[in-house]
Amino acid sequence: MNKDIIKQHREFLKDTQRKEYNFSQTDQHKGVPAPPVQKPFDPAARRVSLFSPEDWKGSIPGVDLESAILNRESRRDYAPDPLTLAELSFLLYCTQGIRKRPHPLAVLRTVPSAGARHSFETYLLIGNVEGVDPGLYRYLPLKHELVWLNEVENMEMRASMACFGQQFVGQGAVTFVWTTVPYRMEWRYGPLAHRVILIDVGHVCQNLYLACEAIGAGTCGVAAYDQQEVDELVGVDGEDEFAVYLAPVGKI
Ligand SMILES: Cc1cc2nc3c(=O)[nH]c(=O)nc-3n(C[C@H](O)[C@H](O)[C@H](O)COP(=O)(O)O)c2cc1C
Repeated sequence: MNKDIIKQHREFLKDTQRKEYNFSQTDQHKGVPAPPVQKPFDPAARRVSLFSPEDWKGSIPGVDLESAILNRESRRDYAPDPLTLAELSFLLYCTQGIRKRPHPLAVLRTVPSAGARHSFETYLLIGNVEGVDPGLYRYLPLKHELVWLNEVENMEMRASMACFGQQFVGQGAVTFVWTTVPYRMEWRYGPLAHRVILIDVGHVCQNLYLACEAIGAGTCGVAAYDQQEVDELVGVDGEDEFAVYLAPVGKI
């Protein structure tokens, strides 16, 4: 282990730059309008309406918070049962749902985010959700809908191979892939953006873990993946948008 390199990398974990960085250099400070809170989508593409919080009442058995926290664990064995659309809606709302929109270019979600910048997009590799054709979708939090992207041949195998052969990835009913659009955070924080992006994604996945407990499902955060393969799988450019974390979900 090269101690100098380790020392250098540890700096990334610290907030030292905040005192040194000249915030007048950020696009926000220069008056550049904030980037959109959600990536644009093809309006002609097929969309799937999701259940809103009022609609899923009764379909989600629920569990008290204490039990959810005490029982949470990383689960890598999934039953072959499908998720219902109400359950998937619940998971999406718990992880990236929008609860307030104080400004067209600013939203508040069910998870916290540094400066409320929320830099993530959620891609779903759907294999087994009732009434939903298998394939790649993206969550549209502003509409609380899914937009269809494309079919994925050999989806289970590709997901697993893109995660260095971790077989359970792709064996769930659905695999969440979170990408970041880093400029959404850089617009406000410049070079300080990247540290908080990774802090943010932990909150997202923790909500997924706890929400899974409420529907008799399990998940496992996955940070070991081939960057290029996962970016290709979800169709992002790897520069202005790239994957940061994955999580398969299945009934247990
Ligand atoms: C950031 C992060 C990355 C992880 N990446 C993987 C992974 O690539 N493969 C895997 O099987 N588990 C992964 N895990 C799950 C951990 O192995 C798991 O959380 C740990 O063993 C503790 O078990 P528990 O979650 O059941 O408490 C990851 C967890 C976190 C938080």
